[in-house]
Amino acid sequence: MISLPPYITSPIYPNKPQNPNNLRKTRPPAPPVSNSDHYHTERGLQFDAGDTFFRRESATGRDLGVLAAALHKKTHHSLRVLDALCGCGIRSLRYLIEADADFVWANDANENHGNVILSNLSQISRGFGENRRWVVTHCDANAVMADSFVHKEYFDFIDVDSFGSDSSFLRPALNALRFGGLLYLTSTDGYTSGGHRPQHCLAAYGAYLRPMPYSNELGLRMLIAGAVREASVLGYHVVPLFSYYSYHGPVFRVLLQVKRGKLPNNSHYSFIGYCNKCGNSQAISWDRLGQIHCPCNLNVPGSLLVSGPLYTGPLHSATYLAEMLNLAEQWGWTGNGTGKDLEKLLKQLIDESDPKLPFGFIKLDELASRAKIDSPPLLTMMSALHKEGYATSRSHIASNAIKTNCPMAECIRIGRELRQC
Ligand SMILES: C[S@@+](CC[C@H](N)C(=O)[O-])C[C@H]1O[C@@H](n2cnc3c(N)ncnc32)[C@H](O)[C@@H]1O
Repeated sequence: MISLPPYITSPIYPNKPQNPNNLRKTRPPAPPVSNSDHYHTERGLQFDAGDTFFRRESATGRDLGVLAAALHKKTHHSLRVLDALCGCGIRSLRYLIEADADFVWANDANENHGNVILSNLSQISRGFGENRRWVVTHCDANAVMADSFVHKEYFDFIDVDSFGSDSSFLRPALNALRFGGLLYLTSTDGYTSGGHRPQHCLAAYGAYLRPMPYSNELGLRMLIAGAVREASVLGYHVVPLFSYYSYHGPVFRVLLQVKRGKLPNNSHYSFIGYCNKCGNSQAISWDRLGQIHCPCNLNVPGSLLVSGPLYTGPLHSATYLAEMLNLAEQWGWTGNGTGKDLEKLLKQLIDESDPKLPFGFIKLDELASRAKIDSPPLLTMMSALHKEGYATSRSHIASNAIKTNCPMAECIRIGRELRQC
């Protein structure tokens, strides 16, 4: 653990506090304003990104993490956070100020980030002894989590904002988390989720992925499946509270609640089949392995692609997302201007949470090509599906795609009828 430098005295404060928690804090000292190129403001908080890896575009991912952490604090009245790969420490700062975390452990393996992290966190009084609010370390994230496990100093919320498809963090993170705690995971490996490195995917997440039209949704399911598998080894199971794909990167983020007990029978951990010939998707249970065929019975060799095992259940909890949206509204993070995007995203995720909707989505371009028609307008297609009794929603992952429980052959018929009107 490294010691903290003396506080810097020049006053700085969030330009415009947008979260009521900000107002409860005493005015903190500021990071020194030396190189303005590196200075950023996020949700009214100023910080220095220095030469660390920092993406402005990941702000929504940070918003979602902060909302979840704040909800945890509100319901459990305590919040101990590990920001395991903290970069410049922006998340740690936001968990402290906005989520009102009692304690945040900011860790980044790169020692060169030390001064930047310290100066950012120095906006919050560090505290001493029992009242210590934060620490900074420069260890391998797995060492911090293993140490916490050994000393039984569990966390309520662990944020693993890692690069690529490094799944080595999963087991130590699960061990270092309190039961009922929240694990916020990241993967940035779109190549693997795209089915282009199945052997690598197998090694990282225990799933063999083939290229499928909704591969970015499979990226989320692959990440959850990796956690399902690791949790199961320890006798736990995980429940996804939200899953978020962002094309910047790309980045796949999932928030999981870790619970006691082995995988329930309806664990949604199975295989996904997609028929290149007819475009239909199906879930394939373990006991059907070896007897798989597509209902279209076209039996074209190689037409049925199978990926898995993957998580095939709901990507989000609608109730939980509604609480996040409610909190975002209370904090003024929704509405016109910058709030519009977060509000739109949360509402889309809520729509996607309809339990009648299966995994995957249908791109309207694929539908149009199969039906040999011009692409039907998305809202018209959704309304026609609703009228025929099917569940449908947009997908936050692909703008011109629909999620639906309507089989592809029926979608083609409905699309053609719409074009004949
Ligand atoms: C994606 S960046 C973090 C960005 C930051 N969370 C944010 O929101 O701006 C990943 C960070 O992980 C650090 N890192 C890489 N491998 C690590 C490891 N094994 N343990 C701890 N930190 C690591 C890198 O130095 C880098 O700063």
